Amino acid sequence: MANFYFPVMAVFAAQLVTASVALAADDLSHGADLFTEKCAVCHQADGAGAPGLAPPLAGALGGYVKTEAGQKYLSNLLVVGMNGPIESLGKKYNGVMPPWGALSDKDVEAVLRYVLVKFNGVTSGAQSLIPTADTIAKARGSGATPPQVREMRGKAREGQ
Ligand code: HEC
Repeated sequence: MANFYFPVMAVFAAQLVTASVALAADDLSHGADLFTEKCAVCHQADGAGAPGLAPPLAGALGGYVKTEAGQKYLSNLLVVGMNGPIESLGKKYNGVMPPWGALSDKDVEAVLRYVLVKFNGVTSGAQSLIPTADTIAKARGSGATPPQVREMRGKAREGQ
């Protein structure tokens, strides 16, 4: 019995692994497409940002995935938007980050994962609190306003 089933199970398991690897790769490429379509116009294709227009995303966001306050900030930021003066990597910005609530929770998760993995070297896994469809859904119902999101940013950066 065992001898008969083992090869079948092995092939099945191999297919499962292939499928989940393909899914992970798809996740990042979907996020990449969304980034190009929705975000690059301000934050630039390489995430470096543009003076007077939008802050950098590259090398600027890794600290946010280390705490729940940071995860909450990023989730709210994407669905609510943000405005008011901020500082990032020693430069000042004062623009408007538009809300992306029209995107699905999964799409918001995908674009954030792309930005975090690709531009900030965050490895998705147990140690990083990358926003999930769940934290994004929660943010959608939070009733936060763009200025409140800026306060969340301040809290998320405390102690960074
Ligand atoms: C119209 C220009 C514009 C577009 C398009 C845009 N952003 Fe922004 N984004 C901004 C501005 C401006 C800020 C800073 C707001 C402020 O000064 O309060 C910002 C802030 C951010 C921050 C916070 C950075 C920090 O240091 O805390 C992240 C993350 C971010 N944007 C991601 C995105 C993603 C992902 C998209 C695409 C879904 C996107 N942005 C699309 C203009 C834009």
